[in-house]
Amino acid sequence: MPTKVTTSTLTKMKQIGQKISALTAYDYPFASMLDQAGIEIILVGDSLGMVVQGKENTLAVTMDEAIYHTSMVSRACTFSMVVGDMPFMSYQGSLDRAIENAGRFLKEANASAVKLEGGSDVCPVINALSKAGIPVMAHIGLTPQSVHQMGGFKVQRDEDRLLKDAEDVQAAGAFSIVIEGIPSAIAAKITKQVQIPTIGIGAGKECDGQILVLHDMIGINDRFLPKFVKKYADLAGITKKALEQYVKEVKAGKFPSKEYEYE
Ligand code: KIV
Repeated sequence: MPTKVTTSTLTKMKQIGQKISALTAYDYPFASMLDQAGIEIILVGDSLGMVVQGKENTLAVTMDEAIYHTSMVSRACTFSMVVGDMPFMSYQGSLDRAIENAGRFLKEANASAVKLEGGSDVCPVINALSKAGIPVMAHIGLTPQSVHQMGGFKVQRDEDRLLKDAEDVQAAGAFSIVIEGIPSAIAAKITKQVQIPTIGIGAGKECDGQILVLHDMIGINDRFLPKFVKKYADLAGITKKALEQYVKEVKAGKFPSKEYEYE
């Protein structure tokens, strides 16, 4: 049986040029499928707010909700590394609070690391968590928790700032960086420049790995999909067909037939 992915596995993969696969998940059954499929990183993203809770953005997700979902995912994983996503305002107030909240992901939810959004500005937090023994995945570029500050979910193009953010989060101790919604050429430059693995989402193929929101790529999410999402399946279509068939059969008295009855 392959051993569980760790931060060292990911560093090594970058060094030998092996691409890293990552996806989000929010519950046991899907996490179990991802784990068996050999996905190296499962992020219990705060995208939970949008694709599971049906909210407009990620801002309202709470620590307790994040812990609840991360626990379900962790329970399913024997191979994939589980990363808990720190909710908006769970790491901004004070370093003590950030450490306490990040610690909950490891202590209560059995995650191996946390992710938080921001570049140079959040380096003191990344540094404090790393010193406390909590591995941190940084997240730069289009950072959805700053949707109001960015004026919407917009592609980020400030190359100097992005390169500096990447350098700074690496220096602060991050073991990896999610790079979201930036031109591919800038993502390629960052990937060459830093020693830690870059995981792209809407950042082109030169990143060391790729991540997508699971519900987008398997076609469960019926809302707007950004340009970078490739839909690998239409689970909503399959499910709707099954449900319509069930309704039909119940109404026609066809289900349950003999084979589904007890003698
Ligand atoms: O919350 C999330 O799912 C994320 C990924 C899109 C990287 O942050």
